[in-house]
Amino acid sequence: MSSCKVIAVPHTRKFNQWIGALAVLWAACTAPSGPERPISGKQIFARHCARCHGTDGRGTAAYAQSGIQDLSDPMYMNRIGDDQLRQIIRMGKPPKMPGFEGQFIEPSLGVLVAYVHSLAKQPVSSSSNSGDSEDSKKSP
Ligand code: HEC
Repeated sequence: MSSCKVIAVPHTRKFNQWIGALAVLWAACTAPSGPERPISGKQIFARHCARCHGTDGRGTAAYAQSGIQDLSDPMYMNRIGDDQLRQIIRMGKPPKMPGFEGQFIEPSLGVLVAYVHSLAKQPVSSSSNSGDSEDSKKSP
């Protein structure tokens, strides 16, 4: 698109406004229009795994009751390496979890593996610290 040939960036004093302008430009020029859309581990997980594991990895109510592995548990996740996780996703855990062999190819599989690992790294909200600076933004 020729409209992307914007060279001059309006001079503003605020740095974040400038960044904002850049971001808008970038978004306008690189807006994905098809297969080049970036892969999102979150989306893959939501689509293929969350119906059993829940979006946070802890398991849906029904599955949590039957003792599904909590994927947000660092104690568990730290023991599972990337290769092992790939293997689990490919083979599943018969008979309860289906295998996804052939459904994900790299780089999607790698992105998914990284995302699953990140579920256990996210700070557990509400239990350990009640009101910190990050959270207080939401509820002033
Ligand atoms: C149909 C429901 C279902 C789907 C879909 C599903 N899982 Fe599972 N998953 C399970 C169940 C049930 C278990 C526990 C299996 C067991 O204890 O034998 C499990 C276990 C796991 C484990 C732990 C395995 C272990 O050795 O302890 C991982 C990791 C995992 N799933 C990742 C995923 C990922 C990633 C996806 C998406 C690509 C996914 N699962 C999709 C039901 C599912």
